[in-house]
Amino acid sequence: MLAGKKIVLGITGSIAAYKAAYLCRAFIKKGAEVQVVITPAGKEFITPVTLSALTRKPLVSEFFTANDGTWHSHVDLGVWADLMLIAPATAATIGKMANGIADNMLITTYLSMKAPVFIAPAMDLDMYAHPSTQQNLEKLKSYGNYIIEPATGFLASALEGKGRMEEPDTIVQFIEDFFEKKSPLAKKKIVITAGPTYEKIDPVRYISNYSSGKMGFALAEECASRGAKVILISGPVKLNTIYPSIKRIDVESAEEMYRAALEYFPQMDAGILCAAVADYKPVHYSENKLKRKTGEVLDLKLTPNPDIAAALGQIKKPGQILVGFALETDSERIHAEEKLKKKNLDFIVLNSLKEAGSGFQVDTNKITILDSLGNVKDFPLKSKKEVAKDIINETIK
Ligand code: PMT
Repeated sequence: MLAGKKIVLGITGSIAAYKAAYLCRAFIKKGAEVQVVITPAGKEFITPVTLSALTRKPLVSEFFTANDGTWHSHVDLGVWADLMLIAPATAATIGKMANGIADNMLITTYLSMKAPVFIAPAMDLDMYAHPSTQQNLEKLKSYGNYIIEPATGFLASALEGKGRMEEPDTIVQFIEDFFEKKSPLAKKKIVITAGPTYEKIDPVRYISNYSSGKMGFALAEECASRGAKVILISGPVKLNTIYPSIKRIDVESAEEMYRAALEYFPQMDAGILCAAVADYKPVHYSENKLKRKTGEVLDLKLTPNPDIAAALGQIKKPGQILVGFALETDSERIHAEEKLKKKNLDFIVLNSLKEAGSGFQVDTNKITILDSLGNVKDFPLKSKKEVAKDIINETIK
């Protein structure tokens, strides 16, 4: 659940700050990106070098860097993050957070945070039990923050009681469980086709199209980031995926893509067919390179490839969702509606090559979604990552 997530880790001045190093390592191992924001007191307990070496990023501690005046924007961090964890959170920081006392970079980042915030308190048992700390924690809960209760045990003061920051593994598990429960895609299985197909003419030539795979890969990553298990059947592209929950199956021809899609779709909750499958392939494959003959027209006979979307539409079971794309150059709506019906899709994503910034290779797309109930929704031009979010939101609905 944490792969690809952007995490702001807030560290404050507590003896438990050493555990933040384990947290960094655990998040990084799970494929997350970590930005540490540390209070001046936090730096007395753990060295910035340890944390920057683990996260491979400079820490943020002050509002600007003293030697060159570089401004650290707490607002940008608030937008960047998928989650914020403050561990360890001292009584002082908890008090400032509860009352909006924005006198350091950590508190301003917290006040600007758009993502869910998790707080792992660490303090002596009497400080933790004090009514002011308890009231502040209640206030923070009422603002929508999540408190990871401290454990009971041996404390730095040599006393025993409740106040030990929870162990890093438990904190990581708490956060993973949170995302899993929240996501309607958790544990769902989705097959996605992406990229072009190559239809071989001879050992050196093929028929294909301009698909880069960007749209299909953005969809796979969006599904994986929401906890789905993804089977990504991809034609030849130069892209990588970062999520371990994406199983990638590389194919070359439409025939190979067809076989893989038919094998996986029956066990899936949904299929999203974004590949630009070559509609035709050569009737004959020449084992040897075709020779150029001056003055002679080469007749290349083509035969239709299997229609993957239509085949999956035929075997679709109740409860399974099937989404297709329509790439058009003319009479866009009419062609998209025809494909929606013919292929038995739940909805179709229309993109037109007539729209600037849409279609092949670019990082943006402008789509219209037409569903089987006759609803039509236009979306503005957006990055393919944002378009993928819109398509997945529609799939969840
Ligand atoms: O890869 P990018 O560079 O990011 O570009 C993205 C894209 C333009 C390729 C993508 O947004 C897109 O439009 N993909 C579908 C391209 C296409 O082949 O459209 P179509 O209208 O020809 O096909 C209709 C639907 O049937 C599609 O879901 C297609 O995957 C599917 N199909 C088509 C033919 C075939 N033999 N089998 C199929 O499954």
